[in-house]
Amino acid sequence: MTNGITAAPATPDWMTVEVCRRASAAEGVALFELRAANGRSLPAFEAGAHIDVRLPGGALRQYSLCNDPAEADRYELAIQLEANGRGGSQAAHERLAVGSRVEVSAPRNLFALRDGRHAVLIAGGIGITPILAMADHLRDRPHALHYAGRSRAGMALLDRVTRDHPGAHLWIGDEGRRMDLPALIAAAPPGAQVCVCGPARLIQGVEAACAARPDLILTFEHFDPVDTALDPDRDHAFTVELLDSDLTLTVPATRSLLDVLHETGIDVPCDCGEGLCGTCEIEVADGGIDHRDRVLTRTERAEGRRMMACCSRAAGDRLKVRL
Ligand code: FES
Repeated sequence: MTNGITAAPATPDWMTVEVCRRASAAEGVALFELRAANGRSLPAFEAGAHIDVRLPGGALRQYSLCNDPAEADRYELAIQLEANGRGGSQAAHERLAVGSRVEVSAPRNLFALRDGRHAVLIAGGIGITPILAMADHLRDRPHALHYAGRSRAGMALLDRVTRDHPGAHLWIGDEGRRMDLPALIAAAPPGAQVCVCGPARLIQGVEAACAARPDLILTFEHFDPVDTALDPDRDHAFTVELLDSDLTLTVPATRSLLDVLHETGIDVPCDCGEGLCGTCEIEVADGGIDHRDRVLTRTERAEGRRMMACCSRAAGDRLKVRL
């Protein structure tokens, strides 16, 4: 996960790290190697994990760890400069240098590998960051690695991918090689886990291809957040009944459900705050849902039993939830 503006987790476990190396990971992508400022080892992380980073200027962002999870002494982040972003990547690119100290959270993993399964790893663009840590972790086990980008020059960490994973399949647009997702998914071994990280278009394509293979486990992570801005001309107020608390709340058109729950003292965890991570999921007992997250699959949306409170809303004027 990258580039997600966040509210702080409920119980943050912060530590100070120092940038001990900075390098180019591709055009517009900077690689930062972080080590504990006190010289100790860092908390272990699993492949697919991310950390929160307090950037210079105060912005809080989430970035996937892209180094080998077996490395206990450092974290590596590859941060793509977003020219039209909200300033987090600019702060990193302009103000983080060797010797800079920043606060980071302990690693958390919302994009985990399932033990013992063949893994089909698919990355698009900067989505290579968690996927590469997965490929490192699976180096001695059966897996396939697919990495797509527009051009070699813009593909982050491509040198490390080709050096450490010579069997990786590269799909490079300006070389005329494009991923054939239906063929790629059709070739997956029975029961495999398909892990995909990249832009929404790629994830939707993988999800559509997996519809023909119910034996596969699809795990995905977006890096482009949803637009959580609320517009009173487009959004409407609704009522939410909290069945376990015997409370009824009104969510105005200009407030998120999560905001209203927090204002009422209802403790729902929030990590990314923009529909990417799944930590604010709540159970819905009744009522149509206007899903706006990038967490649930099409099947899960159609079931209508779960929603992300930070961004999703009622489709009608009333919801009943298990809180
Ligand atoms: S807090 Fe991450 S999806 Fe809502």
